[in-house]
This record gives sequence, structure tokens and C-alpha cells, in this order.
Amino acid sequence: MADIFRKKSIAELMKMTEGANSLKRTLGPWALIALGIGAIIGAGLFVRTAAAAGEHAGAAVTLSFVIAAVGCAFAGLCYAEFASMIPVAGSAYTYAYATMGELVAWIIGWALILEYALGAATVSIAWSEYLNNLLGGVIPYQLCHSPFEVSTLGVHGLINLPALFILLMLTLLLIRGTQESASVNAVIVFVKVTIVLIFIFIGWKFMNPANHTPYLIPANHPPVDLGNGKIQDYSLTFNHGWLGVLRGAAVVFFAFIGFDAVSTAAQEAKNPKRDMPIGILGSLVVCTILYVLFSYVLTGVAPYTDFVKAGAGKEASVAYAIQHYMLGYEWLSPLISVAILLGFSSVILVMLLGQSRVFYSMSNDGLLPGVFADLHPKFKTPWKSNMILFVFVGLFAAFIPESVAGDLTSIGTLLAFVLVCVGVMIMRRTDPDRVRPFRAPLSPLTPVLGIIVCLAMIVSLDNRTLLTAFGWMLAGLVIYFMYGQSRSKLNTNK
Ligand code: ALA
Repeated sequence: MADIFRKKSIAELMKMTEGANSLKRTLGPWALIALGIGAIIGAGLFVRTAAAAGEHAGAAVTLSFVIAAVGCAFAGLCYAEFASMIPVAGSAYTYAYATMGELVAWIIGWALILEYALGAATVSIAWSEYLNNLLGGVIPYQLCHSPFEVSTLGVHGLINLPALFILLMLTLLLIRGTQESASVNAVIVFVKVTIVLIFIFIGWKFMNPANHTPYLIPANHPPVDLGNGKIQDYSLTFNHGWLGVLRGAAVVFFAFIGFDAVSTAAQEAKNPKRDMPIGILGSLVVCTILYVLFSYVLTGVAPYTDFVKAGAGKEASVAYAIQHYMLGYEWLSPLISVAILLGFSSVILVMLLGQSRVFYSMSNDGLLPGVFADLHPKFKTPWKSNMILFVFVGLFAAFIPESVAGDLTSIGTLLAFVLVCVGVMIMRRTDPDRVRPFRAPLSPLTPVLGIIVCLAMIVSLDNRTLLTAFGWMLAGLVIYFMYGQSRSKLNTNK
């Protein structure tokens, strides 16, 4: 039986970063923070904030953001330790292969598919919502919703065509090799941060204190009629009070996904040892401040119960809040929608790119078929992998609701975070003398707290999401033992 704990050597990995073929080191701390923000601010903020407030946390969604940020900060410190210690292109998958062995690397790689592929699907569905809002709702409900969704008028969704459209466009762009250059990214980041600030400043005047009282949803909050015989039931365990805040944290956790993308650029950082932690933690701090202020204003402007109603604030919630509650500023809504569409596109691009890079590494390591590493003869991009990915992501985007795809994304990412925290603790024991330019402070407390907060968010997700994710991970194990284990490049018994 092959050794499922065999490891790639760190020395070999580091060799990849030397020589003429290695990537250029062009990114300083500010460019890295901008890269992080470019990948972070997206559907989590502009769609899931309202969903978390309306369904679980109420105005206390601000506290949900704080809890999610704390979990991310602990995991981020662990990521920073790895990224400065092994500054090669890659991600949690690569760290795990070097430190915890092949099986754990595979598990993380498999969980990262949930993060990147389903993350791209989630944001493309959000893109479809804002496009339809911008176009004044001209796209027929059936053609921009999954079959699992029903409008208040009883119309069933069929397929989400705009989501498929944006995925196809961005896939073609990736195949052409159009890399997001740091400067293009910086422009998009500027636009995104500007609209968030504009909304906070203008919205502040329109806040109604009554919308913030009580701050937590009371257990006896009356149900809200959603039409079609459905209700939003606030008496359920995770739909009020502090447990509602915790479930809200798991929902808005999506908004932080992407800060780990900074670690994938380690090989392009000028001074990775100092700048990796700055890039990862800096983008987290900036986003947390913006998120808390933004969610405070959004729930102050519109009552959170509006955000559960299809046809009202459930979709394109920010545009909805402006159109209905910020009288005199209706002109802001289309501008914000355009900026949001642009911002979503960059998040989708980073996610699709991240996924194809992970597939590429896994395929090069022999754990996935070679087709995922085949490069286009002219464009030198993994085009077959991109096309397969489009079909896979497209199926989710076209036929699954945003909340389902988003929760699966969160669980996959949380799982990867937990394993990265575990990895840091293992490495401190097995390889204590390795130079660590950045050390996660107070270890093992930091990784242990990271594991606890991330696990708490995982278990607060609903059972359907937990079961689906469990099935996904089980399928991954079967594939590893039937395929990857024997074909791995590290397998010497072939
Ligand atoms: N954090 C990214 C978003 O919210 C994935 O869209």
C-alpha cells in the first residue's frame, strides 16, 4: 500500500522559485493588500449581508461580521506563517503537501474546489441579480433563477442564463491568458472601495434608529409571510438571538473568502517574508472595518425583514435599499450596480484562476488526470481545465440557488482553514528549527482558537449543507484511493 503521508520536500518546492523561469517579484505590500481586497469584496458584502440579516441575525449582522473576522484573523495568522515560510506559488494545498502529506493535501485540494469553483458560481448568481436590477427587471424570472426558486407570484425558475453568460465570458478571457495585472486590479479595488464608502456616508443620514432596535432578533419575533404559503420563522434555533448571530457569521464568512488568494502570490512578492503577513492581515483589517460600517448602515436604512421577501429586498439588496429608502438618491442605484457588477467580475476571475491553478498543481502531482495541466499551444493557459471548469461551475450557477452554492463555498473554505491551523501546529513540532520569518503569535493558542471559531461556524450551517459537503468529501476520498494514490508522482511502487 502506498504511503498516504508521503510529503513533497520544502527544498524542492523552494527550488521552483529560483532560476530564470521563476515568476517576477514585482509586488510590494500595498499591491498585495490591493490584491487581497480585489478578491475579497464581492457577493458576500453586496448580497449575503442582507440574507444573513434578514434570515438569521437581524441588525446584529455587524456582530456576525466581527465573529467571522476573528475566525479569519486566526486562520490568516497561520496562513501568513506558511506563506512566509514556504513562499512559493500555490495555496493551502501546497503547504499541506509539504507538511502533512499527500492525503491531507488531497483533502484540502478537494475542499478548495468547493471554495473556488462554487465561490465563482455564487458570485455569478449574484451578478445575475444585480444585472437584472440594473435592467429594470426585464429578464423573465424563469431565465434568471434556478428551478429551486419561486417568485412571490408563484413563477418557477428554470435556468440562470446571465450567470452562465458571465462565467463563459470570463472563462474565455482566462483562456486568452488575460491576466489581471496589478494595476487593473488596483482600479477595480479603488472603484469597489469608493462605492462602499459612498454608501456608508450617504446612507448614514437615512438610518432609522427603529431598524436597529432590538439589536438581536427576539425569539418571539412574529413570522414574516413570504407568499406562496411560506413563512420566515424566527423562532427556529439559528434564526434569532446569539445563535442567529453565529449562523449569520457562517453566512457572511463568504465575504472574507479570498484573503488567502494573497498567499498564492507569494512567489511574486518582492519581500515575501515581511510583505505576506502585511498583505494578508492588512486586507483583512481594511475589509472588516468596511464590512461592519456597511452592514450597520444597510440594516439602519432598511428593516431587515425586507431582505427575506422575494421581489422586495431579497435580491440586489443594496440597490433595493437605495431605491426604496434613500429618497433623492435614486440616481446612485444604477451607478452602484455597475460598480458592483465590475467588482463581482474581478472576484469571479480570481476564483476561476485560483481553481485552475489548484487543478494544475494537483494534475502535475499526478493526483488528477493530465488534462487539467494541458496548456494551450498558443496562449499557454490550461484551456481544457478552464473549459471543464466552466461546465462544472456553470451547472451550479444555472441550476442552484445562491444561498446553497454560497454556504457550500463557506464550508469548503472553513475546512481548508481548519486544516491550515492544524498544519501550523504539526509543523512547529515536526520541524521546529525551520526559519519562520513570520510566526503566528501565541501558538498554539492562535491555531487552536482558529480551529474552534471555524468549527463553530461549520456546525452552525444547516444540515443540508453539512450533508452535501460530507458527501462531497467522501466522494473525494473514494477518488483519491481509486485514482490519485497509485498515480501520484511520489508513488515509487509504480
Ligand atoms: N469574498 C468574495 C465575495 O464576497 C468571495 O464575493
